[in-house]
Amino acid sequence: MCGIVGYVGNKKATPVLIKGLLSLEYRGYDSAGIAVIEDGKLLVMKDKGRVANLQEITDSINPDATIGIAHTRWATHGKPSRENSHPHMDNSGEFAVVHNGIIENYHELREFLTEKGYKFSSQTDTEVIPNLIHYYYTNGVKTNTPFLSAVKSAVDDLRGSYAIEVVSSLYTDTMIVTRKDSPLVIGKGNGENFVASDIPAILSYSKDFYLLDDNEYAVLTADSINFFDSSLSEHSKPIKNIEWDATAAEKNGFEDYMLKEIYEQPTAIRETIGAHFHLGEKCDFPEIDITADYLKTINKIYIIACGTAMHAGLVGKNAIERLCHIPVEVDIASEFRYRNPIINEKTLCIYVSQSGETADTIAALKLARSKGAKTLAISNVIGSSITREADYTVYTHAGPEIAVASTKAYTSQVVLLVILAMYFAELLGTTEQSILDNLKASILDLPTAIETVLDQTEQVKEFANKIYTEHDMYFLGRGTDYCVAMEGSLKLKEISYIHSEAYAAGELKHGPIALIENGITVIGILTDPDLVEKSISNLQEVVSRGAKTFIITNQKLTNTSFDFIINIPETESIISPIVSIIPLQLLAYYISKNKGLDVDKPRNLAKSVTVE
Ligand code: M6R
Repeated sequence: MCGIVGYVGNKKATPVLIKGLLSLEYRGYDSAGIAVIEDGKLLVMKDKGRVANLQEITDSINPDATIGIAHTRWATHGKPSRENSHPHMDNSGEFAVVHNGIIENYHELREFLTEKGYKFSSQTDTEVIPNLIHYYYTNGVKTNTPFLSAVKSAVDDLRGSYAIEVVSSLYTDTMIVTRKDSPLVIGKGNGENFVASDIPAILSYSKDFYLLDDNEYAVLTADSINFFDSSLSEHSKPIKNIEWDATAAEKNGFEDYMLKEIYEQPTAIRETIGAHFHLGEKCDFPEIDITADYLKTINKIYIIACGTAMHAGLVGKNAIERLCHIPVEVDIASEFRYRNPIINEKTLCIYVSQSGETADTIAALKLARSKGAKTLAISNVIGSSITREADYTVYTHAGPEIAVASTKAYTSQVVLLVILAMYFAELLGTTEQSILDNLKASILDLPTAIETVLDQTEQVKEFANKIYTEHDMYFLGRGTDYCVAMEGSLKLKEISYIHSEAYAAGELKHGPIALIENGITVIGILTDPDLVEKSISNLQEVVSRGAKTFIITNQKLTNTSFDFIINIPETESIISPIVSIIPLQLLAYYISKNKGLDVDKPRNLAKSVTVE
């Protein structure tokens, strides 16, 4: 998805902007651009392709400007090209804008502006914005803040989602930013200020952030940041200190972010467990005031999310149902928001999102609130949109996840959902304390269990070397092993571009077994002692049809004819998906590496999906 960076200060803006754009590369993009104010005029440098191309342009010009806006574009309206890249300027060349999101009514705005004599040089929805600003600047009501008033009037005409940065050659020391349904943060410096769509872009410059709200405006100079609401009344705003370390967003000697993040999972889990429980003590979530009385009124829980976060939700469902005896439904956010789900004040809706900015998940949350349900957000990003919309928020502490393919966020989400389930169970008294105590001990052992699996990386690599040229693979499991099969299959698709499907092992003979032919690879996850025998039978069926099998198990398997077995430590079955996913993450990673693909930035994908 698109990325935004902005700088106003006392040093050269371009290197700061380029560095910020480079750290946003992981979001996925197809073109990049910068606008600075040089000698009182707007200077726009942009092109399709990588930030490295843009850097060649900016290095050759080497402007002295100390204020600028920057953008990486992920094409929505109009193909990737120089003309369609941001920043866009108005016809007079006085206003430059970068924009994340989608302007839904841009056709009608374009017609309106065309009638007024404006011309357009791109196919983007964004180009209407600088022209509208110019229109209102020259035709709008006169105020004593003409720049801000013109931006506000233009924004009032927009329908859709946006995070916008504006600079003008008429106001050479000022930048205006605003947002709706698209993230934007402001980093406060000393004699300099920063803007970004994503915290890692400016983490090396500031740890003190303002999180801009929907329909809020900020006017920035080198020495000031002023906030205004949608009626342009000025207000103050609390600053937040973000604990992430800038080096946490670097590769630290690993070849790729994904591999680093796979190896960070023991730490991410330790950090996420944090102070939520200690052995022999009850779980604690001081950040949310959910009471036993409230929980007793709940007759249904929804867990709503997208992609990997939804897979974490599936594992969470099992934990909540088993420990709390409350029915849980897991829904894909993009489906939930349009299917008129049955929700009322007796429903608790839990939203899981690493970024906290996924457009469908946010919309699904707003829907549940409008129907009177309480909402609880699980996010990895402090102050992200979802956390600001929800009634309650709990955080995973995985640290910045840069690789598009989610790994440490998934395992952290699962562990947090399980701890939440234990917390609810303790409030409700639905599970014997001794069972919960055993589970707690097992959770505390997870980091060591994961380290044991990571020690087997070479074996996984060996199997990856054998199968990386294949075109189709199947993942099988029952119960939570099926949830892991789905997540393993998604990881493989995303970064290796190999077609794969996950099936509940018992479903195989209801259709998919027709696809099994000699030499095909089938991956089986066998960790639930109650279901393992049944899954083995299903896997034997594929073996007898010539499949090559890669098995992940924590059970002692005897008399089987599987080709490759990875033994993982046994844990309580509720949390086994946190351990059994590790070899599958590694498998996808090494297959992708063998194919020479860009593991961290797979084609067509973006880290945070801020449009529908
Ligand atoms: O930021 P979110 O957790 O809301 O993102 C949800 C999905 O877009 C995300 O998990 C996606 O499926 C990942 N690329 C999976 O690796």
